[in-house]
Amino acid sequence: MSPRQQTVIHLADYTPPAYLVDRVELVFRLDPRATRVVSRVGFRPNPDSAGGPFFLHGEELKLISARIDGEAVSPELTDRGLTCDVPDAPFVWEAEVEIAPADNTALEGLYMSNGMYCTQCEAEGFRRITYYPDRPDVMAPFFVRLEGDAPVLLSNGNPVSSGEGWAEWDDPWPKPAYLFALVAGELAAHSDSFVTKSGRQVALNIWVRPEDRGKCAFGMDALKRSMRWDEDVYGREYDLDIFNIVAVDDFNAGAMENKGLNIFNSALVLCSPETATDGDFERIEGVIAHEYFHNWTGNRITCRDWFQLCLKEGLTVFRDQQFTGDMRGHSVKRIRDALELRAYQFREDAGPLAHPVRPESFVEINNFYTATVYEKGAEVIGMLRRIVGGEGYEKALDLYFERHDGDAATIEDWLQVFEDATGEDLSQFALWYSQAGTPRLSAREDHDGDTFRLTLSQETSPTPGQPEKSPLHIPVAVGLLGQNGDEVVPTRILTLKEAEQTFEFTGLPTRPVASVLRGFSAPVILDQPRSARESAFLLAHDTDPFNAWEAGRRLAEDVLTDMILDGSDASRDFLDALDRAISDPDRDPAFRALLLDLPSEDDMAKRLFEAGTTPDPDLIHASHDALAHAIAERSGATLARLHTDHQLPGPFSPDARAAGNRALANAALRYLVLTEGPDRAQAQFETADNMTQSLAALGALVRIGKGNDPLARFEARWKTDRLVMNKWFGLQVSLAPPAEAVEKVQKLTAHPLFDWTNPNRFRSVLGAFAMNQAGFHRADGAGYDLLIDWLIRLDPRNPQVAARSVAAFQTISRWDDGRKKLMRQSLERLSSQTGLSADTAEMVNRILS
Ligand code: TRP
Ligand code: ZN
Repeated sequence: MSPRQQTVIHLADYTPPAYLVDRVELVFRLDPRATRVVSRVGFRPNPDSAGGPFFLHGEELKLISARIDGEAVSPELTDRGLTCDVPDAPFVWEAEVEIAPADNTALEGLYMSNGMYCTQCEAEGFRRITYYPDRPDVMAPFFVRLEGDAPVLLSNGNPVSSGEGWAEWDDPWPKPAYLFALVAGELAAHSDSFVTKSGRQVALNIWVRPEDRGKCAFGMDALKRSMRWDEDVYGREYDLDIFNIVAVDDFNAGAMENKGLNIFNSALVLCSPETATDGDFERIEGVIAHEYFHNWTGNRITCRDWFQLCLKEGLTVFRDQQFTGDMRGHSVKRIRDALELRAYQFREDAGPLAHPVRPESFVEINNFYTATVYEKGAEVIGMLRRIVGGEGYEKALDLYFERHDGDAATIEDWLQVFEDATGEDLSQFALWYSQAGTPRLSAREDHDGDTFRLTLSQETSPTPGQPEKSPLHIPVAVGLLGQNGDEVVPTRILTLKEAEQTFEFTGLPTRPVASVLRGFSAPVILDQPRSARESAFLLAHDTDPFNAWEAGRRLAEDVLTDMILDGSDASRDFLDALDRAISDPDRDPAFRALLLDLPSEDDMAKRLFEAGTTPDPDLIHASHDALAHAIAERSGATLARLHTDHQLPGPFSPDARAAGNRALANAALRYLVLTEGPDRAQAQFETADNMTQSLAALGALVRIGKGNDPLARFEARWKTDRLVMNKWFGLQVSLAPPAEAVEKVQKLTAHPLFDWTNPNRFRSVLGAFAMNQAGFHRADGAGYDLLIDWLIRLDPRNPQVAARSVAAFQTISRWDDGRKKLMRQSLERLSSQTGLSADTAEMVNRILS
């Protein structure tokens, strides 16, 4: 291991920057292999710092010249940056460097995608563009001049002037370097405009390759709705004359909130009914909102250092969740968010990668763009809002924007604003930011005379580096139902602060049923003894939609557990209860579709492991299959009716109601093929005029082994559409029977369209493979070997994507000794590669330690 890989950065070591920046001017002379970057930066000593050397980050740069106040200087260079003697007064730093965007395969800094120049600077990519204090607490206005032969030349801020082969941009809002962006290429715009609340005219553009112009309308509409929503709900207006979005095909993450110039993975902006599913439409709407909302939560107020990442990400995810709830309905959105949290964040918390919402140390910050920082970070804000109430939350947010606009802030600043605005004491609540692990909440019920007692207790298991846990401040939403299904006590928030507390409800002569953790009011695991009869009762009667769904899920998990552990048949009572629930016309179709989604194989493995059993992935897979068949047999008539009745007449619309109907019809189809055979799915595949129905039919056919012909036809029709072909690759891997998954991946990675250098395509095969639980965890270790072979190949080229894929191994402790050993051996093989990136090395080390 090189010394670099061992550099650990600690939150506790933060020191303010020794020099501040007043202004940045950049000139880019674009060339694929020899771009020149000329920088002119006004520095001044930071009066609030204890001093220190003048250090500028810089990596993989060729320094051509450097000057201070016009005089040539010879800085001392290392592979991380430079130091230089500087005056003890304000001065101007000028430098010229050369970089090679066409050789930049890491997709960090300035790189090329499909002949177009683009940048990705978060978190520490700007240091690959020029020498600069590349840390978020150094903020400055930027002026940028671009020179190159591309017809479109974009950067942050407002356009100043342009001519043949050049353009100048001015961003008046001080920003850290990670929000810098430039784009240059042959791009076409889908344009529109927006008038802000106070009358500012804003030009809006979505820049794409000319052939993708027809796939921008929905994204543009989502952008305008986001802008309006942020004004209406948070009082936040846009602050430049122009807002540009650019779609790029090669992108490590989802999208990026660069000031005034958001850059998107094309998969998260381009869509049309023919090429995108309802899930894509919803995700695109949410990500466009997310990046737009960063303009205030992230850009105007940024993070002091990268340990505070959740300050912008948790809050912005929370805001995009609220937005999607307002657009598409809060109950279904809450269920989806809980599913996602459990699938990705609870898994992280339960294994060797567990870390607090605000981590305390890291080697490579790119490895901390995690479900914990993002999704649990958002849950923590949801809890804060529940604790202080909607009005308190609004006051606190107003104060946050007023007090910290223009700042690089911390979580302490954030919590202080809530304390000052509402008077709430958040000292215990703050533990949510520093304590890792998912708390287990136990609920016991007791009824005596006319008093009902609910005893809540909490416990959090040890996580790496945190053997001892303290009780957290948990808001627990509870309602009580009478035996006939009436709500006898409406939802109230119980405040749990101790390890154990008892809450009393009086005036209840008959024993009520407690609906606990309504709306998933805290990101915890609820342990509450429940009979199948009680769960069925809650599924039918709970007035809280989240908990009604939760009861159904609970039933399904219990049934699956019995099938896996005892080989029992699917319980009749469960099948009857599910049939009743999906038949209920008063329930939202989208909600009913969610009821038909069984707990995943990963959910079951986690559950069995937590209950003290070693899971067997093949057995889980087989039981899952058996339960699906049992549902198809029991509810055949109901499912056939749902599939027919929820086909909507008329042209495709991506709205939530239409999407919910399609989701229910397609959920039914998934089961129907198991008993009816392929005809119905084949018919849908033939006639579908939209990707949602086409892909659902294709999936149903592949699932029953009738996919060959439709897969070939799908490929012939879509082979030139990269985004659609990602679905074609991904679907075959996800649905491959466990015993064939390795061979399927081998076959697909040999396909002429498999381009492993494109992150989307890589993930559509190898990412999907890691999620095919029984296929990836094949007992002979062939799945582990296969993934590791690819990571060894990918790491030198793109460390970020390779490192993230290593997370597939984080479940190591769950499995039997044989699999554990094979997983460990595979990881050791990866870590013994010479020249392994710091990114990947850190992930492997954390999993193996
Ligand atoms: N800040 C981006 C967001 O909105 C995340 C992001 C974009 C990112 N590109 C990245 C994170 C590259 C790590 C690496 O959430
Ligand atoms: Zn974000």
